[in-house]
Amino acid sequence: MPLTFRLNGETVSPGDVPATTTLLDWLREARGLTGTKEGCNEGDCGACTVMVSDDTGHRALNACILFLPQLQGKAVTTVEGLSGPDGELHPVQQAMVDHHGSQCGFCTPGFAVTMATAHLNGRTDHDIQLAGNLCRCTGYAPIIRAARAAEAQPVPQWMTPSIFASQISSGDAPQARGAESPLDAYRPATADELARWYADNPDTTLIAGATDVGLWVTKGLRDLGRVCYLNGISDLQGIDIGEDEIRIGAGVTLTALREAIAPHHPDFAALLDRYGSVQVRNAATIGGNIANGSPIGDSPPALIALGATLHLRHGNARRSMPLEDFFLAYGKQDRAPGEFVEAVTIPRQPDRLRCYKISKRFDQDISAVCGCFSIRVEDGTVTGARIVFGGMAGVPKRAAAVEAALVGQTWNRKTVEAAEGAWEQDFRPMSDMRASAAYRLDAARGLLSRYLLEDLGTPVRVREVAP
Ligand SMILES: Cc1cc2nc3c(=O)[nH]c(=O)nc-3n(C[C@H](O)[C@H](O)[C@H](O)COP(=O)(O)OP(=O)(O)OC[C@H]3O[C@@H](n4cnc5c(N)ncnc54)[C@H](O)[C@@H]3O)c2cc1C
Ligand code: FES
Ligand code: FES
Repeated sequence: MPLTFRLNGETVSPGDVPATTTLLDWLREARGLTGTKEGCNEGDCGACTVMVSDDTGHRALNACILFLPQLQGKAVTTVEGLSGPDGELHPVQQAMVDHHGSQCGFCTPGFAVTMATAHLNGRTDHDIQLAGNLCRCTGYAPIIRAARAAEAQPVPQWMTPSIFASQISSGDAPQARGAESPLDAYRPATADELARWYADNPDTTLIAGATDVGLWVTKGLRDLGRVCYLNGISDLQGIDIGEDEIRIGAGVTLTALREAIAPHHPDFAALLDRYGSVQVRNAATIGGNIANGSPIGDSPPALIALGATLHLRHGNARRSMPLEDFFLAYGKQDRAPGEFVEAVTIPRQPDRLRCYKISKRFDQDISAVCGCFSIRVEDGTVTGARIVFGGMAGVPKRAAAVEAALVGQTWNRKTVEAAEGAWEQDFRPMSDMRASAAYRLDAARGLLSRYLLEDLGTPVRVREVAP
């Protein structure tokens, strides 16, 4: 079956285009839909935001790092599709006019699409919804005022993109979407299909949310050769909350993970609120955030602090390991050719997790240091500690010496101070544009004090101590 999706209500088949054509390029160059803007071309500014809908809902996504095959069976709404059949403005567009939410106008289509998606989803947390849209001239106050004003308006009747054939049955999968297809992209429908294909084609580049891989193409100008898209594999997208563990499929997006984990580990959810932006979290998957092996990925420190287990699969063979063991060295993970991340599991436990992301900006920034702590205290004595940092080494790493210095000791400031010397045994961070080595070590030490203070009931959160 050729690649087919809906675009502003029309069924389209892009035909014989390279498998890593971005939606943004195709919209602008093949369709002449130039309302969707190119700002950064790397997922940072939201000027290219489109709404993508399927039977699971409506999501704002960055078209610049969204490849066409990721859209199979979905419905795309661009800024051109926001207004009504007779040219009526969408309520968010009218509110932007009324509240002076636009000056040069370059960012405005992206804002309008993000706002319309939030409006459709009934979201009123505008600061969070709009953190991925950058405006360089208007200032955010008029834009937020516009978003608030639109809240009271009903969703226009035309804003219900029809969905069709969102999933294709697995029976015809290899032939229908195999490498023989004009797009030269394989798009399996089940984990079993992926396992067979990848074991036979280990040189394939797997693409999940494309929030990393997209940049290899748009910024690195790389030819990826044969690619395999994972976003049609529904059995990698489940989250099972069991009695003993929480199992998260590799294809679960960070948005879905955030919703599922919030009741169990609210600080993990709060950390994910600061992961990229709504558009990035709607695309990025937990499997991609682990498999990329980044030392500054935000979810591995939290998962390791929770004692997570990683589940890998090669063909029909499966193996599992503590997540920390997967990260061998900078750029090197314990993953064989043809092997993929299938899931990650977290043992059920009383919540002791606190996550602290230190970055130059509050929103939409990469961590300089990300510290995640889970310290068990019984009768005033530390009985267990898992302290994990991103940004402090070539891999996400436990602070083993600090943990050892805490366990068995009374849980108080004296113990935390006595552990001071252990930090340098655990970490020799580097200096880079995000932070100096000395800053990173100081910040890590400070975060343990912060955990203690918070645990003892002292307000320490940026938003708690704000005037
Ligand atoms: C604007 C922007 C902001 C960002 N902000 C953050 C942030 O705040 N915190 C953060 O941690 N990251 C951030 N990132 C990085 C990125 O979002 C993450 O690394 C993301 O989790 C990657 O997931 P993905 O599904 O998009 O992976 P992809 O880009 O699709 O793939 C990434 C890598 O993982 C491999 N892969 C994917 N799935 C699997 C699998 N199941 N098995 C084996 N290999 C697999 C791919 O082959 C590739 O090598 C940001 C990125 C952008 C563009
Ligand atoms: S062009 Fe900036 S996010 Fe796409
Ligand atoms: S109106 Fe100019 S960048 Fe937003």
